Amino acid sequence: MVKIGPLGFVKSLWRILAGRPRVPPSLQNNPLLDIILKRRSVRSFADREIPDDVLAAILEAGRLAPSTVNLQTWAFAVLTADSWRETFGSAIPFRGQRAVIVMGDTHRGKLIAEAFPASPLVEYTIAVMNASLAAMNMNIAAEALGVSSVMLSETGRSGFLDAGYLKEKLGLPDGVIPLMTIVLGYARGAYPPMPPKLPLDQVCFQGKYREADSAIMEDWLAQMIAGYKASHLSSSFEAQLRVYQSKLGKAEADLQAMILGRK
Ligand SMILES: Cc1cc2nc3c(=O)[nH]c(=O)nc-3n(C[C@H](O)[C@H](O)[C@H](O)COP(=O)(O)O)c2cc1C
Repeated sequence: MVKIGPLGFVKSLWRILAGRPRVPPSLQNNPLLDIILKRRSVRSFADREIPDDVLAAILEAGRLAPSTVNLQTWAFAVLTADSWRETFGSAIPFRGQRAVIVMGDTHRGKLIAEAFPASPLVEYTIAVMNASLAAMNMNIAAEALGVSSVMLSETGRSGFLDAGYLKEKLGLPDGVIPLMTIVLGYARGAYPPMPPKLPLDQVCFQGKYREADSAIMEDWLAQMIAGYKASHLSSSFEAQLRVYQSKLGKAEADLQAMILGRK
């Protein structure tokens, strides 16, 4: 892991604060592009209810998302603050007002099952791809309606790393795989700064695949470490990675059982 001293810490924080979406001048002020580029994961929500019609519109954006062969391989568990508490015995993380747990649902393909004989990884990949697109559609729709969100895969046992737990709590059959929770609410205060994003020339290539520049990757990691420290005074990026590591073995076994039928 990259080590950063006090000077590196300040430099990395400054680089985070200087980060901005880059839009060609000719395309500035496009309302939808603005919404997409200004979206941030929000982790502090006001004590203000989301009206039912707003939530219905967000779910509609999920329902109408694109999907492989239009299979719509997703299922959404829709929770209020009360029903989350009843189900999980705690508040929605970050005091969100509503939550949508997004699942990949391989059962949707059963009607055309002959198209996928014995191909669990293909079915799983299709389900995850499509459900993730539905999640992003909901996320952008929420943002367009003034509702902020954060997707969770770990915080509050809310995603695929706690698949076995969610399977039990939500009564999921095998083949229905919890992926993430979208926590929704009205942001309390201003949006956080944009976290370090890799430069476009490091994620795009033409012709054959090209590895990212290692110095730029190290710079990104230094910014991640500094940014995490600045926003979580009592924790660290390394500590957060250890939480993920501690859950990996159980998550892997649960997911293999749910996807491949291996116990
Ligand atoms: C599938 C998925 C799972 C995530 N899980 C968590 C999580 O468990 N806890 C958390 O605080 N943020 C989580 N995030 C939010 C990411 O940390 C965030 O998207 C990333 O840092 C980039 O920030 P941005 O969304 O503001 O661009 C998750 C995001 C995604 C897409």
